Amino acid sequence: MERHYDSISAMASGFDALADVVRGATFDDFILRPQYSVIERRDPSVIDLSCRFSTNITLQRPLVSANMDTVTRAPMAIVQAEEGGLGIIDRGFRNGDIEPQVREVEKVKRMQHVIIRDPYAVTPQTSLADAVAMMRRTRAGTLVVVEGPRRLMGLLTERDVRFVNTREGTVASRMTPVESLVTGLGELTLDVAERLMVERKVKKLPLVDKNGTLLGLITAKDITRQERLPFATRDSHGRLRVGAAIGATGDYLERAEELVKAHVDVIVIDIAHGHSVVMAKAIDAFRKQFPNIELVAGNVATADGVRFLAERGVNAIKVGIGPGGGCTTRLTTSFGVPQLQALYECGRAKNDVPLIADGGIKRHGAILEALLFGGETVMLGSMFAGTEETPGDVVQKSVVLPDQQRSVKVPFKVLRGMASIQAIRDRLDVEDDEVVDLEAIGAEGTEVSVPARGSVRPIIHDILKHLCSSISYGGAKSLAELRNMFRDDPMKYLVKLSGSSKKESYER
Ligand code: XMP
Repeated sequence: MERHYDSISAMASGFDALADVVRGATFDDFILRPQYSVIERRDPSVIDLSCRFSTNITLQRPLVSANMDTVTRAPMAIVQAEEGGLGIIDRGFRNGDIEPQVREVEKVKRMQHVIIRDPYAVTPQTSLADAVAMMRRTRAGTLVVVEGPRRLMGLLTERDVRFVNTREGTVASRMTPVESLVTGLGELTLDVAERLMVERKVKKLPLVDKNGTLLGLITAKDITRQERLPFATRDSHGRLRVGAAIGATGDYLERAEELVKAHVDVIVIDIAHGHSVVMAKAIDAFRKQFPNIELVAGNVATADGVRFLAERGVNAIKVGIGPGGGCTTRLTTSFGVPQLQALYECGRAKNDVPLIADGGIKRHGAILEALLFGGETVMLGSMFAGTEETPGDVVQKSVVLPDQQRSVKVPFKVLRGMASIQAIRDRLDVEDDEVVDLEAIGAEGTEVSVPARGSVRPIIHDILKHLCSSISYGGAKSLAELRNMFRDDPMKYLVKLSGSSKKESYER
């Protein structure tokens, strides 16, 4: 078959020969030549978008939300996992203050288990006031009532305490006692549990063993949710998966220990320069204490950096020095590698550890490029910024309308780099008048306002639809197939853009 290779040298062929082509290049330097499409519907519910996040964790969708304190806390991580990706809870909590991060992980792990193994519990003697406070704090609508070593005594639901004076009385006075409850004996399968709940018209089903000891709780809401989310990222117990970031010094091992106790699925050692003596020490100490915990490390931007981390036994590697939206590393240090070149070079480091393409993705199409050139998943920060699920308040700012002599109030949220002065200040818990000392730390991030928008869910759905369209244009049936086809013959796809064709393609 005749092939046209446009401006790219016909000498280079095959993925191995792209080094010259990608040198100095990033996403907007290329466009991909359309191929004969072989799929009839560009439908994310049908097209296989599965990928490896790490050596032991597979995702149905290649999306990971960035461990930034203005992007990923429990609400974002829950939606990401429900939609088939993964959220990484940031480490933007004060040194030594480990519990808030652990709580975020717990919220995700408890969100949607089909069997809640460790439901929030009170005793019959707990005061109603304390029980209600626990419901408010945890947002759990049902508390199990246990005595001694988890002997089931009853259930207390929001409805049981709705119109009563909660300053008086104990849980025993309002709970539904175990004699009046429908319970499941032993480890029921989901189907059996669902049938029992429908037959007996109950929405909660505590599971007990033959001695009446609580084994877990199944709720109708969780069953329905499970059925509606066929792509969700779950652990072997049916709980949503979540990751959490730690540093490489200070409280990092203690933090990891508590996160592991909360059943975190993956720990990310995240520092600005991951190819470093600091990282080597951190990984060695981590692996000594946690030989079997899934570990991601980064960031690096070179093949040497990837080999360095892979040799130390990490399960995935974050690639990206300086491409991120909230990042000023390249401006302040003149170090970094253009992200597409970095992904290509890191992907060629000859090992089997998956790469996470982290940062610099500003348009949906760039996600595909990141996945073709080396990433197995992409980590997104700015693209999810401003959504309902991000942490932080909405502030109303006056914006002057162009061509009109009036201003309107527009809702904004903050997106800030994790190495920005503001984020560092929050982590260190310093006062405003200590800013002079902060300057000496050498901030490598900025803070920007981004328009507040609705839920992140439609944004994820849009990204996935566009990824399916890319697969269709690329002549493949699945993401994995397109990656293989591209690797076999990249020149069939790649068009390097000139200044004017870049404008024609990406400037609107
Ligand atoms: P995007 O482009 O998706 O990038 O917003 C998210 C990634 O940016 C990185 N990041 C930073 N890099 N200084 C940096 O050099 C910072 O302050 C900073 N904050 C975030 C990080 O890798 C994130 O996942």
